[in-house]
Amino acid sequence: MSRLVYVLNGPNLNLLGQREPHLYGAQTLADIQRACAALAGELKLDLRFHQSNREYELIDWIHEARGKAGGLAINPAALTHTSIALLDALNAFEGPVIEVHISNIHKREEFRQKSFVSKRADGVIAGCGAQGYELALRRLARLIDDKG
Ligand code: DQA
Repeated sequence: MSRLVYVLNGPNLNLLGQREPHLYGAQTLADIQRACAALAGELKLDLRFHQSNREYELIDWIHEARGKAGGLAINPAALTHTSIALLDALNAFEGPVIEVHISNIHKREEFRQKSFVSKRADGVIAGCGAQGYELALRRLARLIDDKG
């Protein structure tokens, strides 16, 4: 199975570190990307890490991952709660999908407790802070290793 993995980030996550640090912590997306790259090296994963504020770009990266990536982790940010288009794109991806949220969406406002992406995700990590990305990569590596 391919050891290529995509880590995708949705709207406003480019502002991590500045944006509501009481909810999302002090780490920037660049810090998270560096930590993911270091861990991917350890796990022998080939990492593609992207962020966009545009729904279509996230969809295009999911399409790009089709047929070639062994797994995908996504923090869809607010699109989690609204985007059937993102769900449809993920349904067209064959490999394992891990949904990541820095905050615990279940502890927050009612409208954050519905996730369209969870209808497709094989695993969901929420409320583990930026470490959630590392947990997602470890899970993807395990699933890829298990498939051989
Ligand atoms: C988030 C949770 C979402 O509800 C929110 O819109 C985000 C970030 C998280 O990582 O906790 O932008 O996905």
